Amino acid sequence: GKGGYDHYMLKEIHEQPAALRQTLRGRADPTTGDIDLEDFPAGTFEDVERVQFVACGTSYHAGLVGAQFLSSGGVPAQAFLASEYATSQPPVDEGTLVVGVTQSGETADTLSALRRANASGARTLAVTNVVGSTAARECDDALFIRAGPEIGVAATKTFSSQVVSLGLLAERMVRDVTGSRTDDARARLEALSDLPGHVQQILDYTSARRVAENYRDSEAYFFIGRGTVRPVALEGALKFKEISYEHAEGFAAGELKHGPLALVTPETPIFAVFTGRNDEKTLGNVKEAEARGAPVVAVASDGQESVHQYADEVLTIPDTHPDVAGVLANVQLQLLSYHAADLLDRSIDKPRNLAKSVTVE
Ligand code: F6R
Repeated sequence: GKGGYDHYMLKEIHEQPAALRQTLRGRADPTTGDIDLEDFPAGTFEDVERVQFVACGTSYHAGLVGAQFLSSGGVPAQAFLASEYATSQPPVDEGTLVVGVTQSGETADTLSALRRANASGARTLAVTNVVGSTAARECDDALFIRAGPEIGVAATKTFSSQVVSLGLLAERMVRDVTGSRTDDARARLEALSDLPGHVQQILDYTSARRVAENYRDSEAYFFIGRGTVRPVALEGALKFKEISYEHAEGFAAGELKHGPLALVTPETPIFAVFTGRNDEKTLGNVKEAEARGAPVVAVASDGQESVHQYADEVLTIPDTHPDVAGVLANVQLQLLSYHAADLLDRSIDKPRNLAKSVTVE
């Protein structure tokens, strides 16, 4: 059942501390910096030359984060929309590891991309929530995100658990491929280990419903972020449109001025995500929107004073490592979307025209 919540989506948002604890259990030791990923002992990935993520929707956004974790650690990586993978025809060989990120393990576009990769001689790995799923069975290897069953069509806790799983996987791969740990591996592992508690704090203090109420009559909703939180901006917009049926778009913060700014008016609130890294640049982009009269809602930690100064409202997140802040910011945006949709009395757990698992290409 819904365990006292009005919707599965809200229940699953609230299950995130427990789900993240499950995802992390026994896998990372922040005091020593050790990583233990069951089937993937040290050295597993030493022959990997490049990584390609293939995924759809929310899982694609997790893949984008995973690709950034790897690239910044020195492992060439790219994320592809699974439905575009065959058409893009990226070079694939035995040195290529193709990682399918898929909650259900049954998404037709993702399975098709993985099969193509397999036929081209790549090694394949499924990052999935479902043991025994087609992706888990067909890939050479599987890493289970252990988020527990997700009933709501909107992916929530599984996104958080995917990003954390990819963070651990990236750390393992960087060590295997480059021979050394990422520069601040221990700080990042500590931030990952702190996530369950930090997410709980957000669930306890969030003002997302009030913010959703304040902007309920807007024309459109724009989400911006740069670096590891560009995917979070995309994800914020996807979730918002999916369950509220309102027009929402996500952009790289720096792209606003290259076109989307023409849409910005006092009726289009901008939700800007900050991590504590490159914030000044994103703030500059926010000011461009503000100059056109757009209300600005920042998602940022309490300590980011310059951000607080410019924002009309702030959805705060606990202070953490910049690479991990996106998971926390995303929880605030999940709550924002949920409350916006609830105020409009939408069919939150089963949005129109959508299915939990899309088994056609
Ligand atoms: C959005 C959502 C979808 C899925 C996508 C991929 O909330 O749930 O965008 O993320 O259909 O599904 P999986 O991860 O099962 O391959």
